[in-house]
Amino acid sequence: ETTLGAAAAQSGRYFGAAIAAGRLGDSTYVNILNREFNSVTAENEMKWDATEPSRGSFNYTNGDRIANHAIARGMKIRGHALLWHAQMPGWAQSLSGSTLRSAAINHVTQVATHYRGKIHSWDVVNEAFADGTSGGRRDSSLQRTGNDWIEAAFRAARAADPGAKLCYNDYNTDGINAKSTGIYNMVRDFKSRGVPIDCVGFQSHLTNSVPGDYQANLQRFADLGVDVQITELDISGSNQANVYATVTRACLNVARCTGITVWGIRDSDSWRTGQNPLLFDAAGNKKAAYTSVLNALNAA
Ligand code: G3I
Repeated sequence: ETTLGAAAAQSGRYFGAAIAAGRLGDSTYVNILNREFNSVTAENEMKWDATEPSRGSFNYTNGDRIANHAIARGMKIRGHALLWHAQMPGWAQSLSGSTLRSAAINHVTQVATHYRGKIHSWDVVNEAFADGTSGGRRDSSLQRTGNDWIEAAFRAARAADPGAKLCYNDYNTDGINAKSTGIYNMVRDFKSRGVPIDCVGFQSHLTNSVPGDYQANLQRFADLGVDVQITELDISGSNQANVYATVTRACLNVARCTGITVWGIRDSDSWRTGQNPLLFDAAGNKKAAYTSVLNALNAA
């Protein structure tokens, strides 16, 4: 196959990109998007600050532009993200305790209901675990509403959109480490108690290498009975093309790794300014990393 999406589809997987509504008028960008990718994630447009700028008042204009572009072309949509301690709107940043809890759960219900039936997978909760060696939760106003806030969010999302796969998503979880093990223990607990969780997202913002146990880490989560997805892949450094191939092969080697999303299209679209971590250069040309990923997908 000659495109990323078609090559991934040979094994039933998707290949997606994070996109920005504000770039949908850029023909170079849109031509690459429509040619290469069969899944999209809104880079910012479905987040809390974007969708509920004031309490109880919802704005889906830009999220819907992305969703409509995808639906018109048969692309899957990854919803990102219902709850995250960052990019909370100002009004929610000033809440705490039971008031924040009910506002957060209402947010999950409203947004998941708006997009009901359109979302392949939702990042229900993003980045709730701490970096470092504790293996525990990150301190945040959401966490201080009670340790059960994550399961409350997943239950609300399931009730609102029973057809969407519900994911937990995080970074620095690329190998077997204290943070990924903390998440692993949460997923195992959720599965044992019937809390609805279907998938775990591994953001995979990488710098020139990937841990040797990356595939084993994906596999141990899959063995808990959830899908795994590579959700925000970008890789900087001189070994970029090789690392992209290694990550791609790791996903292909794990039966429950259902898809890969890169966090942007061209290097000039990336949040990692100056690091050129994506598959297309600023002019929209395919890079060596692109060929490396395409060949890995076609070899499967
Ligand atoms: O839209 C405003 C614009 O009106 C304003 O003039 C401008 C001035 O700074 O800011 C614009 O908003 C920016 C927004 O991106 C859209 O470009 C925000 O400042 C900026 O903070 C925001 O950054 C995003 C970041 O999440 C926020 O934390 C990045 O684009 C986005 O790539 C990044 O994505 C995250 C994932 O959601 C979660 N995982 C990590 C990943 C990388 O940080």
